[in-house]
Amino acid sequence: MRKILVAGNWKMHGSKSMVQSLLKGLLAGSSAGGAAELAVFPSFPYLAQTESILAGSHIKWGGQTLNPNPQGAHSGEVDSEMLVDLGCHYVLVGHSERRAIYAESDVDVALRFSAARKAGLEPVLCVGETREEREAGQTESVVGRQLDAVLAAAGIAAFDSATIAYEPVWAIGTGLTATPAQAQCVHAFIRDKLSSLNGIIAGEIKILYGGSVNGSNAAELFAQIDIDGGLVGGASLTAEDFLAIYNAVA
Ligand code: PGA
Repeated sequence: MRKILVAGNWKMHGSKSMVQSLLKGLLAGSSAGGAAELAVFPSFPYLAQTESILAGSHIKWGGQTLNPNPQGAHSGEVDSEMLVDLGCHYVLVGHSERRAIYAESDVDVALRFSAARKAGLEPVLCVGETREEREAGQTESVVGRQLDAVLAAAGIAAFDSATIAYEPVWAIGTGLTATPAQAQCVHAFIRDKLSSLNGIIAGEIKILYGGSVNGSNAAELFAQIDIDGGLVGGASLTAEDFLAIYNAVA
C-alpha cells in the first residue's frame, strides 16, 4: 500500500522568519500517524534552519536540485554530499523550471538522478509535457523519453528508492490543474512503463502529481488509483494552504 506524500516545493521563496513560522505551523498541524507523509523543499540557504526545526520529526526535507559532480571547483553549486550533511532525505531532479530556464537536458537530469542515488538521497524525478506537446498528442512520447534517459543511465533497480512527479508544464503555477482523469492517464502510463521492467518496483514507487494542486482539488486527484500524492508549489508557502492539502487526504 503506497502512502500519500504531500511535498512542498518552495522554489525561490523564503526568509528566516517565513521558514520558522511555516515549519512550526506544519509541525503543529500534522502528525506521524496522519494519512499522508509530508516533505518540504526549501532553498539551499534555509536547509540548515530546516534541519534544526524538523530533525527527529515526521516531516522530511530535501534540496531543489544538486550538482552531479563531486566537491570541487564549481562556484555557486551544491553537491549531493552537502545535501546529505544537511539531513536531506530527498532531492528534486529535472523540475521543468530547471529544464526550461537552466537548460538541463534529459542527460543532465539522469546524471543528477544517479548522483543522488549514489549519495543515498531519494530523487524525486520530475517529468511532464508542455502545452504544445500535449496539443500535438506527444504527452506519452515526451514523458517516455524523459524516463528512458534516466532508466538508461541508472537502470530500473535505482528506482527502488525514488519518487516520480508528473508535472504537466502547462499546469504549473497557472491555476490550470490537469483533470483527475487526465493526470491518472499519464500516471498509469508511467507505472505501466516501469512495470514492463520490474513489477515490484512499479507497484511500490510513488508517482506524485504536480501543477496547481490546492486544498480544493487535492482529494479528487489523490483518489485516483495511480496518484500517490502531490508536489505542490504555490500552495506550499503557507501552513494554512499546505495543511488544507494534507487534511484533504482521506
Ligand atoms: P504549482 O507548482 O503548485 O505552483 O503549480 C508545482 C511545481 O512546480 O512543483
